[in-house]
Amino acid sequence: MAIVTFPADACHIIARYPGPNLRLITGMRTIIEPFRIKSVEPIHFTTREQRTQILEAAHYNAFLIKSDDVLIDLLTDSGTSAMSAEQWAGIMRGDESYAGSPSFFRFRDVVQEITGMQNVIPTHQGRASEKILFSIIGGAGKYIVSNTLFDTTRANIEFSGAEGVDLLCAEGKDPLVPAPFKGNLDVEALKQFIEEKGAANIPLCVLTVTNNSGGGQPVSMANIRSVSEVCRAAGIPMFIDACRFAENAWFIKQREEGYGSMAVKDIAQQMFSYADGCLMSAKKDAFANIGGFLAMQSADLAQQCRNLLVITEGFPTYGGLAGRDLEAIAIGLREVMEEPYLRYRTRSTEYLTERLAAVGVPVMQPAGGHAVYLDARSFLPHIPAHEYPGQALVCELYLEGGVRGVEIGSFMFGKYDAAGKLIPAQMELVRLAIPRRVYTQSHIDYVAEVVIDVFDRRSAVTGLKITEEAPLLRHFTAHLRPVGAH
Ligand code: F0G
Repeated sequence: MAIVTFPADACHIIARYPGPNLRLITGMRTIIEPFRIKSVEPIHFTTREQRTQILEAAHYNAFLIKSDDVLIDLLTDSGTSAMSAEQWAGIMRGDESYAGSPSFFRFRDVVQEITGMQNVIPTHQGRASEKILFSIIGGAGKYIVSNTLFDTTRANIEFSGAEGVDLLCAEGKDPLVPAPFKGNLDVEALKQFIEEKGAANIPLCVLTVTNNSGGGQPVSMANIRSVSEVCRAAGIPMFIDACRFAENAWFIKQREEGYGSMAVKDIAQQMFSYADGCLMSAKKDAFANIGGFLAMQSADLAQQCRNLLVITEGFPTYGGLAGRDLEAIAIGLREVMEEPYLRYRTRSTEYLTERLAAVGVPVMQPAGGHAVYLDARSFLPHIPAHEYPGQALVCELYLEGGVRGVEIGSFMFGKYDAAGKLIPAQMELVRLAIPRRVYTQSHIDYVAEVVIDVFDRRSAVTGLKITEEAPLLRHFTAHLRPVGAH
């Protein structure tokens, strides 16, 4: 029977997972998609020969492949959700008034209700929120601490002249060790860092929930509370990067003592109650194709943000979005907290993880909320970090079956030392992000088959070399070629 217990020292919680035999014990039925399909889009098949040419023309960078040439697109869960009939109805209701649109007030009310934040500022997506916030509070000599900053967040911090510092808990750094809250911030390291650098040089702490770059792993309520206490004692504001707040709340409900019978919305409200503000990309846990917001308690900081917003995004009641987008977000934010949805959502990533782990594919344990993360370092141990094992694996998955994933490792995060030598990333992961409400179980079965077929011939996979790159966020545009090719 498939009951997994986590090591007691990782967290004092025991988590249970419904495995394939659970039905025999409990009579539980298959967790199904809690929707039916009203509108469909074709996906495009290619031959292996075509994919070989496409990959070469894309310089072995999956971001440069046309999406029509991809069969199952797991590049991102961002902006790729299927919207509900209600959301499409909201789109028709959208009011496009420049100032004071009722769509804004509906949007603001939902955000206020969930986050408890008084000041709500719409933006066109997450990184626009980051740019505004860090232009105000960042700058040379400052440090922004986090469990793990997402790449655009880090880039916006660095662009302001400040430094981003990740203080992830130890269990979060090992992809193959199961623990319930691998997204937690190391509270002792945070205290030490504050003492070392001085609270005056740390204008913000950002808790990313779930921790995208660290495997979509959740942060526990206990950790959110402790981080908040340490920050408040030092006078450092704490913001939540809330892209996947509902998935995080669901994991708390499942895994943390005392939350099992609490509604997801109440858990989310409690998470936000410990924060001074939040950044959100509505392209994730709001089922929207575009959108985001900043929300915060401080009226003073909010005014500074709005001053920048009118220059870069738009008037404060639309902030870079159409009224119809605000409607879609307002509706999506409520839908995402529905429990049948969250149960199905987390089960689908868990299902893919289980299928892969069952045949020995090194995959992050436990499954993340929005994605399955392959451990490329163990998958391709013969490829060194400077030949980008994660990116090599991304290319092989595309070649094998037209599946597009994304590297989250040294290609995305690697830096160079003074001598030009690569400083590798902490982990070499390949993320297979599952768009929300888009793919069915047979699509997921197909993905498992493709990964397993590559795994069976892994020793023949070769590494890659970068031939062209940009100074920031190089993974979006860099060109590569196979090692040994000319
Ligand atoms: N923070 C986190 C945790 C994210 O995952 C993202 C985006 C952002 C901020 C930025 O939001 O894209 O709306 O500007 N993540 C996407 C991804 C791109 O594929 O994981 P954005």
